[in-house]
Amino acid sequence: MHPDCERVLLSEEEISAKVEELGRQISLDYAGQELLVIGILKGAMIFLADLVRKITVPTYLDFIDVSSYGASSESSGVVRILKDLDYSIEGRHILIVEDIVDTGLTLNYLVDNLKSRDPASVKVCTLLDKPLRRVEPVAIDYNGFIIPDEFVVGYGLDYNEHYRNLPSIMVLRREVYMKGE
Ligand code: XMP
Ligand code: MG
Repeated sequence: MHPDCERVLLSEEEISAKVEELGRQISLDYAGQELLVIGILKGAMIFLADLVRKITVPTYLDFIDVSSYGASSESSGVVRILKDLDYSIEGRHILIVEDIVDTGLTLNYLVDNLKSRDPASVKVCTLLDKPLRRVEPVAIDYNGFIIPDEFVVGYGLDYNEHYRNLPSIMVLRREVYMKGE
């Protein structure tokens, strides 16, 4: 347990069992096809690294980096591409991998943006879903865990770039992210 966190929400064991289950389902659904996994930097990195090792169909990787939160814990609603994909996705089956869907603004923007590039298909996989915070509806094809409206860190998720390397997912103490607001 990290002292800035109030409790463990999801243990390493719970996460790894879920990742395995998601990988199995994705492998079944894409059987006979090639998959292009698109990771959203940087939060989805660790989830993606574990997930793709549970996928058995031929899998390619690309990454996109978008700004949404900056140093704050609140979504601004303004999405900007900081680093675009390296390759064209035209005619490919793409699976967007995200760490958490909160307001839905980031993913909505990305799905629209990527669909406009003529891929064969677009699906979304997220490790965490905070439906209570949704502002725009998002179709999630693979959902790891539905979580309450609390700010979580670890397993790739950060607050102001801290805590990404914590192996489990923990609830950050309010005092930590309310500081300076
Ligand atoms: P929206 O609101 O656009 O935001 O769905 C998705 C992005 O917001 C970040 N986010 C969080 N990051 N703990 C985090 O570390 C959280 O509880 C949290 N909620 C939202 C995250 O970067 C995600 O990609
Ligand atoms: Mg993110």
